[in-house]
Amino acid sequence: MSIHTPKIQKKVTVSTIKNMKGKEPIVMITAYDALFAKLFDGSVEIILVGDSLNMSFSGKPDTLSANMELMLYHTRAVCNGAKLPLIVIDMPFGSYTSKELAIKNSIRAYRETDAQAVKIEGGKERAEIIKTLTDSSVAVMGHIGLMPQFVRSEGGYKVRGKDEEDIQKLIEDAKAIEEAGAFALVVEGVKPEAAKRITEAVSIPTIGIGAGIHTDGQVLVWSDMFGFFEDFKPKFVKRYLNGAKLVRDALGEYVDDVKNRRFPSSEYSY
Ligand code: KIV
Repeated sequence: MSIHTPKIQKKVTVSTIKNMKGKEPIVMITAYDALFAKLFDGSVEIILVGDSLNMSFSGKPDTLSANMELMLYHTRAVCNGAKLPLIVIDMPFGSYTSKELAIKNSIRAYRETDAQAVKIEGGKERAEIIKTLTDSSVAVMGHIGLMPQFVRSEGGYKVRGKDEEDIQKLIEDAKAIEEAGAFALVVEGVKPEAAKRITEAVSIPTIGIGAGIHTDGQVLVWSDMFGFFEDFKPKFVKRYLNGAKLVRDALGEYVDDVKNRRFPSSEYSY
C-alpha cells in the first residue's frame, strides 16, 4: 500500500472549486471534529460538516433532529482542526424554511464559525431562498437527488433518475440552483446516467454520492468509508478501512492487559 502525502498547500476557496470543473476531480469528505479534520487537512479540497453526524455521532435514526446549535458546535471543532480545505456547514432541517430564517441562520454560521459556505437540500423550490443567500454574499452549495432531510415526508430513501421524466426534473433543479448562484451541487443517490446529464447541463461542479463516476467530484461520509458506522452500509459506500474492527481488537488488548495486570508496565510508569 502506498503512503499518502497531503498535496494541497494553499487554502481552498469557492473560486478554487468552481475552477476545478472539467479539470480535476474534487475530493470532499465529511468530518465532525477537530481530530479527524486535522487528519484530512491538505488531502481533500472540501470538508463537509454534514448533518449525517446526527446519525453516526448522535445515534439518531435520521438527520432531521439536528439543529443549528449542534451544527455550529461541530463546525467550530472542524475549523479548529483543518486549515486548508473549504469548510461547508450543512444547514439542518428547518433552518432555511423561509428567506428570513435562511439569512438569519447563515449569518450565524458565518459569525460563529469559520465555515466558508453553507449547504442546502432541495431543488427548484429552494431556488429563491438560495438566491436570497447568494445575493447577501453567502456561498451556497446545493444538494439534489436523494435528499436525506426528506426521508420522513417521502417515506424512505429513494434512488432518483430512473426514467427520462425524473432526469428532466433533476436537470431543471440543477439549473435553477445554478441560476440562483450556488457555487457547487451535491448530487446524491441518482443513476449514473442521470448524474452525467446533470453534470453536463450545468457550469458549476457537481459532487456525487451514490451517483456514479461522471460527476465533477465525490463525497463520502467518513464514518461509513472508514468502517466505523456499522448499522447499515449503502451500496455506494466503499470501505477503505475496517475501523470498528481495529478499535474493537485494540480495545480487547487493553482490557486483557488491565485484567491481567500487564498494563501499566514499568515502561508506562513514572
Ligand atoms: O450530511 C451529509 O453528510 C451529507 C452528505 C451525504 C453529502 O449531506
